[in-house]
This record gives sequence, structure tokens and C-alpha cells, in this order.
Amino acid sequence: MTQDLPLSGAVKPYPEPDAADVRELLLDWCGAEPEDADDAVKGLAALDPLSRELADRLYQSIAADMGGRKWLAWPKATEPHPLLGLYPLLASVPDMLAFHQGRGVEEDLSRRVLADVGEKLRLNRRLYGRAGLDVANWFTGHVRGVLYQLGRLQFCVEGAGPKPFVGMHIRGEGGPLTLDAVRDSVEWALEFFPAVFPDRYSGPEDLVFKCDSWLLDPQLRDWLPERSNIPGFGALFDLEGPGDPKGARNSLWRFVFARTDDTPVEKLPRDNTLQRAVLAGIESDVPWRNRSGRLNLARLGL
Ligand SMILES: CC(C)(COP(=O)(O)OP(=O)(O)OC[C@H]1O[C@@H](n2cnc3c(N)ncnc32)[C@H](O)[C@@H]1OP(=O)(O)O)[C@@H](O)C(=O)NCCC(=O)NCCS
Repeated sequence: MTQDLPLSGAVKPYPEPDAADVRELLLDWCGAEPEDADDAVKGLAALDPLSRELADRLYQSIAADMGGRKWLAWPKATEPHPLLGLYPLLASVPDMLAFHQGRGVEEDLSRRVLADVGEKLRLNRRLYGRAGLDVANWFTGHVRGVLYQLGRLQFCVEGAGPKPFVGMHIRGEGGPLTLDAVRDSVEWALEFFPAVFPDRYSGPEDLVFKCDSWLLDPQLRDWLPERSNIPGFGALFDLEGPGDPKGARNSLWRFVFARTDDTPVEKLPRDNTLQRAVLAGIESDVPWRNRSGRLNLARLGL
């Protein structure tokens, strides 16, 4: 996959962030923890010339596709540099801000979208017991100006064709997934995307929202209590396809248990209703699946 990246400097010079930039961007813009900012500064100093070259090439892949679709395929960061992808992302924050300003996106939204970096650094620390950004390529949607946090939900321009569908994503931090919160977010997105991408969407009627997630598995309805928000969220979608036959282990271990997927079932935490429900399903051989669906706006009253 590395061979598919543009070469160093192919699009524009790589503005490699220095220690002060890394610290400031992480603390002031990304809402990161001081310990993650400290480790990112140390990690930057520890990069060898080959890693620096790779960071430059990752930056070029962003610079070459501002305003594109979805997130980019990047090679996985490996030891000893689990934060490698963070540096080109931070280097591209000024590009993101220029893109946002050019399209009338306010700075508050630029900051909100970057807060996901701080969250995922926290999640990586919980998962691996050290600083890291295991899905750094996810943030290429953020910094290329195609993913936005509008209220509770994130929305990303994803599909093919002249009016690409908008993918819906759900951060862990941000509170319960109530129907009111979802409705507010979707209402915002219906206005936002035609305003920011008039070249793609002439009005709200051009927007199709899709989601692909463990949250859409209708089997959850049989295991979660009435008061739980998750089944209500899933029921907003018209499901498409049978779901991934490989099952939902990766997603459940990461998002429900905050554990790496090699953690044995007996070591998973049972601290709350959701964890106990998912585990009870596993113990009864429920084939949990990630499912995809298209948002049915009428079910939100929109
Ligand atoms: C999506 C999310 C915000 C829903 O949270 P919610 O609105 O509180 O959901 P529910 O009302 O259905 O929760 C029911 C119970 O499960 C718990 N719970 C919900 N999501 C949880 C999660 N990800 N991890 C641990 N516990 C969770 C709640 O605390 C509650 O427990 P309690 O009744 O013992 O207090 C939450 O699941 C989350 O943060 N997920 C992580 C991000 C994610 O999965 N994104 C999608 C990636 S594809």
C-alpha cells in the first residue's frame, strides 16, 4: 500500500510539525490529554529518516485529495512508531482550516471535528496501554474537509457519483444517542451539506444518509432493555444486505468493551447493561453482525 502513496514533496513541501506545533495542536485544537501530547512530542523526536519520509508521503496523499471522498487507505502504523500517522494529520490542519474558510465553515466546527483525534488517542491508550493512533487514516476524512461533526453525529461525503451519499458515524464521546440528538444532527446536515458543497448537492432532497455499524444489528433489540437508545437508532434505517458474515467481533471488542480483539471472552468487562447484553448474546451463540442501512428520514419526522 505504501507504493500507492505519492512521493515525498510530490504535491507541496511537507510542513513537518515541530515539537511546539505538535503540543499546541493536540492540546488546543484536538482536546488531547497532556500525557498523549507529551508522548507525541517524544515520538516525533524518535522518528528515523525512513519514517519521516513516510510521514511526508502520507501528507502528500492528503494534499493531493482535499475535498475528496471518504478517508484514504494508508499503510498501518507499526511499532516502534504507533503515532506515525498523527504527524502528517497535524501538518495538514492549516490546509483543513483554509478549506473550511473557503467554504464558509466556522472555526468552531473545525475545532469540533478535531476533537475526535483527542478521543481516539484516549481510546488507544485504553486499548494498548500506551499512546497510539491505530486508525490514523480515519482522520484523512476530517483534514481533507469531507467529514464534519454536526451536533451528536459525524457526517462524511462518501459515495460514488455526482451526488455521493453521506455516511453517518457515531463518536463514543458526546453523550447518549437519543432520537432528539439524532434528529437535530440530521436536520443540521440537511442544510449544511448543500451549503458547503453546492457543487454536489443542490438542496436537502439530494441527500441520502447511510450508516454501517454494529449499532444497526436488529438482534440487539432482543437483548437490550426498552429504555436503551441503541435499538431506536437502529430502527431508523432501512437495512441493506445481510451484514458482514465475518461477524462484529472487531467492532464489539473495540466500541463496546474497549479491548483489543484478541482479548478472550472471559476477560471482557461486564460493567453495564450493554456489555452484559452483548456477552449474554455471545454465550447464546447470537451471530452479532455489523449491518448497513439507509436512513429513513420519515421515521425521524423529517
Ligand atoms: C453509540 C452510543 C453513544 C450509544 O450510547 P447510549 O445512548 O448510552 O446507548 P444505550 O441507551 O443503548 O445504552 C444502554 C446501556 O449501555 C451502556 N453503553 C452504551 N454504549 C456503550 C459503550 N460503547 N460502551 C460501554 N457501555 C455502553 C450505557 O451506559 C447503558 O448502560 P446502563 O443502562 O447500565 O447505564 C455508545 O454505544 C457509544 O459511545 N459507542 C461507541 C462509539 C460507537 O460504537 N460508534 C459506532 C462505531 S461503528
